[in-house]
Amino acid sequence: MVGGLASLLYFTLAGDVLKSKENAEANLWRVAYWKAPIPFQGEVPENFHPLARDLSAKRCAQCHPTQYEDWSASLHSKAMGPGIAGQYPPFSSSEKAGCDVCHAPMSEQAEELRVSGEWTANTKLNQNLQQEGVTCAACHLRKHQRNAPPQRTGKQDDSELEELSAALHGKPLRTKFFETSEFCRGCHQHEANTLKISGNTIENTYIEWLKSPAYDAGKTCQSCHMPDRKHLWKGIHDKEMTTSGVRIEHTLSTENPKTGEVFRATLKLSNTGSGHRFPTYTTPAVYLKAAFLDKDAKVVSGDYFEQHIIQRRLNMSNSPWTEYFDTRLASGESAELVFEKTIPPEAVRFKLWIWVKPDQFYEGFYKRMISNKPKHAGLAQFQEALVEAKNRQYALFTKELEIYAN
Ligand code: HEC
Ligand code: HEC
Ligand code: HEC
Ligand code: HEC
Ligand code: HEC
Repeated sequence: MVGGLASLLYFTLAGDVLKSKENAEANLWRVAYWKAPIPFQGEVPENFHPLARDLSAKRCAQCHPTQYEDWSASLHSKAMGPGIAGQYPPFSSSEKAGCDVCHAPMSEQAEELRVSGEWTANTKLNQNLQQEGVTCAACHLRKHQRNAPPQRTGKQDDSELEELSAALHGKPLRTKFFETSEFCRGCHQHEANTLKISGNTIENTYIEWLKSPAYDAGKTCQSCHMPDRKHLWKGIHDKEMTTSGVRIEHTLSTENPKTGEVFRATLKLSNTGSGHRFPTYTTPAVYLKAAFLDKDAKVVSGDYFEQHIIQRRLNMSNSPWTEYFDTRLASGESAELVFEKTIPPEAVRFKLWIWVKPDQFYEGFYKRMISNKPKHAGLAQFQEALVEAKNRQYALFTKELEIYAN
């Protein structure tokens, strides 16, 4: 009993400690700022310049080309891509609205809205804006008011620019909320009352960040994902970004392996700089691999291949969902692959490599969707999404050795 009470007390205290790390003021902002859906912007104030009256990112681009270029290259601009559009046709109104919260959060982007409890066609739907997914206006505009971070420190007096902005689309409302992780939380962290599997919600990035050394070092999501306020949001889909978050080490028993000898290699990947688990989502998978290859560069048949998968893999075929395994790495943790085998005569090369599939889960999902042969428009979109997902795979590390005949 006493033990039970003690551990209950421990978990309550641990929860309190975590809670005390949250930025309470920013959380108040978050709740007020991120309504689902974001209410209509309403009439454009009369004093706005004709160029600044439109909500589209393409319009913002005319005066904010740097942010537009970066955002266009980011996944936020692709949040209404074929992988999601393909799923929409058979969805109910409320299912679509559930996805829109994160993928196209403005009222102007919704096909249907709930009016006094009834789903009704949205007469103010802006289809171009819907395609823009997580667009500029979704993050910056509320009732046409531009919201922005405080002016950059060290920058000389910006009052002229501020006046220009006032003349074009009103002065921005500057708030520190834009510099906090709570700003990102709504779309990158499921609420505590949603489905938990083995104790963790499916999206758990903000909580992981609260527990990470990056938090203690004062690094926010923006510090790593918007350096110098760039709108690129690079993540596991980008080789350089992924490299920045990890350390890769390997050992080889010899640089000159010979047929018939016992050969040993190790490959180790550590999460040294990702501000959450590596990787944080259930959708990517990272493979540590080692193999002997034959003259056709194929893995020699028999027991000449080893791999270790880093992923939180879920089983979604039954309800409620369960976890097959969770081998993701918390900050400071490592995964290691050990390969030790006698070199067979067919082997001409040894290969040690790390393969990243940023959309591993979705690849399987799109394949299943395609094989179900849906009658609706979604089929072509799933095919497009599958090609896109496969093209996003990459090698994070490769080491090859020639094998000498003995
Ligand atoms: C006709 C030109 C023009 C258009 C179109 C325009 N802006 Fe601006 N905006 C400005 C100018 C000028 C400033 C002040 C200079 C600056 O800070 O970049 C400004 C400032 C801002 C700021 C504050 C920037 C800061 O320094 O913190 C934000 C945020 C912003 N605009 C968002 C938007 C968004 C989102 C759109 C599209 C929906 C948009 N603007 C369309 C001209 C424009
Ligand atoms: C996912 C949300 C999000 C989207 C989408 C987004 N922004 Fe931002 N924007 C931010 C945040 C957060 C900051 C502040 C970053 C910081 O303080 O580190 C910011 C900063 C800015 C600034 C000030 C930059 C500076 O150097 O001070 C401008 C201007 C701006 N955004 C314009 C745009 C435009 C134009 C678009 C679309 C092309 C856009 N934003 C899309 C979240 C967003
Ligand atoms: C709480 C926010 C949230 C909700 C709600 C949400 N998503 Fe996402 N979704 C994300 C994030 C964040 C990613 C990026 C994952 C990554 O980086 O790999 C994503 C990625 C995806 C992708 C893969 C990337 C792409 O665009 O092809 C698909 C497909 C997708 N979501 C579909 C859906 C569908 C369908 C729904 C509704 C049933 C939904 N999502 C609801 C946040 C959300
Ligand atoms: C309105 C919801 C929303 C907000 C707010 C938001 N995101 Fe996202 N984010 C998404 C969605 C949806 C995706 C996936 C887009 C896709 O691939 O379809 C995404 C993708 C990303 C990715 C790409 C990851 C990868 O797999 O490579 C990063 C990084 C990211 N967001 C960081 C941030 C940061 C940092 C902030 C806060 C400044 C933020 N996001 C705010 C919805 C949001
Ligand atoms: C110390 C730097 C750092 C901080 C802080 C950080 N990230 Fe990351 N993030 C990374 C690196 C590096 C990657 C690529 C490796 C990986 O996937 O973990 C990444 C990947 C991602 C991805 C890609 C998907 C995935 O499964 O990994 C998303 C989404 C993301 N971060 C969102 C966030 C959000 C939201 C926050 C704030 C709560 C945040 N990150 C804080 C460095 C950081």
